[in-house]
Amino acid sequence: MHAAVVTAFDSPPAYREFPVPTPRTPHEAVVDVIATGLHPRVRSQADGSHYTSTDELPLVPGIDGVGRAPDGSVRYFVLPDTTMGAMAEQTVIDLRRSIELPAGTDPVAVAAGMNPAMSSWVALRRRIDFRSGQSVLVLGATGSAGRLAVQVARLLGAGKVVGAGRHPGRLATLTELGADETVSLDGDPGEVDDRLGRAAADVDVVIDYLWGAPAAGAIRALVTERSDRGVPLTWVQIGSVAGPEAAIPSAALRAARLQIVGSGQGSVPTRDILAELPDLATEIASGKLRLDARGVPLADVGSAWAETGRDERIVITP
Ligand SMILES: NC(=O)c1ccc[n+]([C@@H]2O[C@H](COP(=O)([O-])OP(=O)(O)OC[C@H]3O[C@@H](n4cnc5c(N)ncnc54)[C@H](OP(=O)(O)O)[C@@H]3O)[C@@H](O)[C@H]2O)c1
Repeated sequence: MHAAVVTAFDSPPAYREFPVPTPRTPHEAVVDVIATGLHPRVRSQADGSHYTSTDELPLVPGIDGVGRAPDGSVRYFVLPDTTMGAMAEQTVIDLRRSIELPAGTDPVAVAAGMNPAMSSWVALRRRIDFRSGQSVLVLGATGSAGRLAVQVARLLGAGKVVGAGRHPGRLATLTELGADETVSLDGDPGEVDDRLGRAAADVDVVIDYLWGAPAAGAIRALVTERSDRGVPLTWVQIGSVAGPEAAIPSAALRAARLQIVGSGQGSVPTRDILAELPDLATEIASGKLRLDARGVPLADVGSAWAETGRDERIVITP
């Protein structure tokens, strides 16, 4: 069979022959892969920079996808940390980490949306005690996960949603996705913090995809401008596209009821993540959660890797 194969962490995967994997336990099955998303997490798997990387090569990247099982069922699957990923004509899945999709489900939409949508869905349903009516700031709302977080927050009953991001075009689309207000993160950092302080000082929850200097500035701004610092502010750290570290002033943690938690693989038990798959897949399949996506044949994986546009999620379709 063919697969996208990484042989060096400083080169993109190449389309080439690769051995068909074999199941090792009665829970495993080989599936024909139909669609698998090229998520940022997959890029960091393929360049060895993800925190779960073991430096083992060669590896086939791809952490999740949609495939046809030997019984004919079409399933969404999540792979464990493995060197036999989903960017192949066939891969091996653990059936317990998969769900059957209803007939007629668009495999590209599911492969594109599950990973980015899961980040906020799991955070709000499993990581924190989120209650209907609470207000949410999405920091980094112009990325795929951020655009979905705006929709997820709304769908899960947020009373107010503020979306903050840089890209003006995508920022403008957030209102139709469910944001009540948007804040531009473009420009002078001091002015950005002022804008955030005005628009979002009293939110209950922040879903943070940025970390780095923008998150540190935002924490200072929200804590300073908060009208009641005794009201809990729960900061859910999910992505770190703006930097792996952030200089949080200690005073911010003393001066307000600020609680910073992370949400992702490890901080949320795998069984909790798996338990959320069916409901989330239903929302994506029904079109309630939307993300533009584009299918690219497996043979073109090299050129797909070179694309860095963020208007749509690339989905490899073997
Ligand atoms: N923990 C989890 O469960 C989980 C799950 C899924 C994803 N994630 C993480 O979430 C993050 C976002 O994923 P994604 O799928 O949305 O990626 P994406 O579609 O590539 O979007 C990333 C966005 O980050 C923004 N960005 C980059 N640097 C920035 C900066 N310095 N300041 C402000 N914005 C900046 C860009 O915004 P502009 O377009 O406005 O420039 C871009 O749209 C990644 O780190 C990913 O690994 C975590």
